[in-house]
Amino acid sequence: MIKIDEMKEYAKENHVPIMQDGGIEFLCKTILENKCQSILECGTAIGYSSIKMANLDSTITIDTCEIKSNLVIEARKNIANAGLSNRIHVHECDAAIFQSDKKYDLIFVDAAKAQYKKYMDHFLGNLNQNGMFVFDNLSFHGMVENPDLATNRNTKQLVKKIKKFVEYICNDPNLETHFYPNLGDGVAIVKLK
Ligand SMILES: C[S@@+](CC[C@H](N)C(=O)[O-])C[C@H]1O[C@@H](n2cnc3c(N)ncnc32)[C@H](O)[C@@H]1O
Repeated sequence: MIKIDEMKEYAKENHVPIMQDGGIEFLCKTILENKCQSILECGTAIGYSSIKMANLDSTITIDTCEIKSNLVIEARKNIANAGLSNRIHVHECDAAIFQSDKKYDLIFVDAAKAQYKKYMDHFLGNLNQNGMFVFDNLSFHGMVENPDLATNRNTKQLVKKIKKFVEYICNDPNLETHFYPNLGDGVAIVKLK
């Protein structure tokens, strides 16, 4: 049986980024409040957030995409140890090209931060009528609010892209967005109007 604290420890020791406590608590609360049953996740890492979500209710099923083979192996091992292989399906692929004809109640986006708009456009047709997107890391360690914290050119570019995405989801009249910059690393819920 996998212990969630051991996964957190493993992630820390191996520098695998996983959701912060505030963010995952909020995500789980959102899933329960909205009775979400079908979930798509972009960015599995070692399966931490997938396992947390699947453990909320035995009716929840998850498709999750991870691009790195070593993490796919680790995630599948953890998911099997948690007895959840029948409900969490790890797809080894770039989330931006993952094809599914399923409709999801919740699409949780936690993969490449510069690609959030791309993932959103790609999965628009996979959202159930009352479905929602959840995006993590929209504050990017406080750098989106305070770009001076970004020290190198690549990070500065990334922070600019995240800021542009936040402006898009907060201002597009076709979207209903709730943005929580101080929750975890900055989380937003986006629904289509
Ligand atoms: C922040 S981690 C995910 C953490 C995980 N959701 C959790 O909280 O346990 C982001 C993951 O996305 C993966 N990733 C990056 N780009 C990706 C892509 N284009 N498609 C799928 N996965 C990607 C990374 O390899 C990394 O493991």
